[in-house]
Amino acid sequence: MKITMIGTGYVGLVSGACLAEFGNDVLCYDVDARKIAVLNEGGVPIHEPGLPELVQRNRAADRLRFTTDPAESVAHGRVQFIAVGTPPDEDGSADLQHVVAAARTIGRHMTEYRLVVDKSTVPVGTADAVRDAIAHELAARRTSIPFSVVSNPEFLKEGAAVEDFMRPDRIVIGTEDAEAARAMRALYAPFQRNHERIIVMDVRSAELTKYAANAMLATRISFMNELANLSERLGADIEQVRRGIGADPRIGTHFLYPGTGYGGACFPKDVKAIIRTATDAGAELHVLTAVERVNEAQKRVLVGKIISRFGNDLAGRRFAVWGLAFKPNTDDMREAPSRAIIKELLAHGAAISAYDPAAMGEAQRLFTGEQRMSCARSPLEAADGADALVIVTEWKEFRSPDFDALRAHLKHAIIFDGRNLYEPEDVQRMGFEYFPIGRGRAKDAA
Ligand SMILES: NC(=O)c1ccc[n+]([C@@H]2O[C@H](COP(=O)([O-])OP(=O)(O)OC[C@H]3O[C@@H](n4cnc5c(N)ncnc54)[C@H](O)[C@@H]3O)[C@@H](O)[C@H]2O)c1
Repeated sequence: MKITMIGTGYVGLVSGACLAEFGNDVLCYDVDARKIAVLNEGGVPIHEPGLPELVQRNRAADRLRFTTDPAESVAHGRVQFIAVGTPPDEDGSADLQHVVAAARTIGRHMTEYRLVVDKSTVPVGTADAVRDAIAHELAARRTSIPFSVVSNPEFLKEGAAVEDFMRPDRIVIGTEDAEAARAMRALYAPFQRNHERIIVMDVRSAELTKYAANAMLATRISFMNELANLSERLGADIEQVRRGIGADPRIGTHFLYPGTGYGGACFPKDVKAIIRTATDAGAELHVLTAVERVNEAQKRVLVGKIISRFGNDLAGRRFAVWGLAFKPNTDDMREAPSRAIIKELLAHGAAISAYDPAAMGEAQRLFTGEQRMSCARSPLEAADGADALVIVTEWKEFRSPDFDALRAHLKHAIIFDGRNLYEPEDVQRMGFEYFPIGRGRAKDAA
């Protein structure tokens, strides 16, 4: 099939490359000329495991191409995916300007039938807005060309995006158009050879499904963070509690990890957007309002522990921060808890030496001009001479460090662990003061 991907970011590039891998002829279009230039020179602008190989292979086979030319992109694909960003607007609602711009581009240039697929995360009713934008452009051209608009929300996770797209749990397709549903089934047939994974539903339910999924996951995280804080007060250990409840198949083990709060390009904005959608519809989402409040507070928990230990004035102190990306295996720092933590430590006068295996370039860009923030080339270099270590992202390489070397590099053998990577007794036995999240007994022992 000939496919156009409008928007070549985390979702568009991964989806485009995976669709090309199954033999489709894919053209990725983006308004960001720098990004397209990098791709046309054989590079990959984001960190995502397995993606460079996939892009390289399909470029070489001429099944995956990149352009900044809107007319070329609309002329190419009978299927036009919209995978542009939907950042939060000032009132928390999803800003649809890029989605509508993409729809207009299609309406302005199409000369024959197009199947338009909303892959961006968009509020209920957006498919109607996309349809209107295309119809408006066609009317302005005094022409009438048939098209369909389908919702196909994306559920991939950054850090495992290629794997998720290749082996999806489910493929949600929102349409009331039987012919469009048939075309979408054909497109996704290679991705579900073993099990039926396609769920066809009406457009509005498909749009809401994506928000419901992210809202549920965010809820689990805030729930566990709140219980972690309670565990500290009660002298209980949240890690034991987590194991105890996760064994119940009705609860399951996923997304029960307490930490520094959720971040990233999706959960924060999607929780905000669904709350806003509800408000506009005259309803209030009490649970999600609390989920958001808990998350905001959780981003400050680690700094609270640092202040309790070192005092409010952190001038003259330097902290090693391990992990900047909002989660492992990505370079994405959008809404990353590390940003809130570093900002607050800087505001208290501290200096930071940070290390992340993938997000260092992004951190340098974000903290440009910040004199007291530096990036190190290794975890131990970051720790060298620092007053304490602060762990923010659970990259594999932080799980089993050389503790003797770490102790020798740090000025004080103190670890603030926002991801509960270590067994408290073990690190305490090695001479560290250890401050994890929600491990009340460990704190008592420290
Ligand atoms: N990142 C994820 O993990 C993830 C997962 C599932 C769903 N989503 C959703 O997918 C959408 C895209 O997210 P992302 O993380 O890939 O964003 P991104 O910012 O990485 O990529 C979006 C791209 O769209 C381009 N763009 C903007 N306007 C354009 C236009 N008019 N024409 C062509 N290109 C345009 C931008 O230049 C950018 O390269 C969002 O709605 C997001 O919520 C993201």
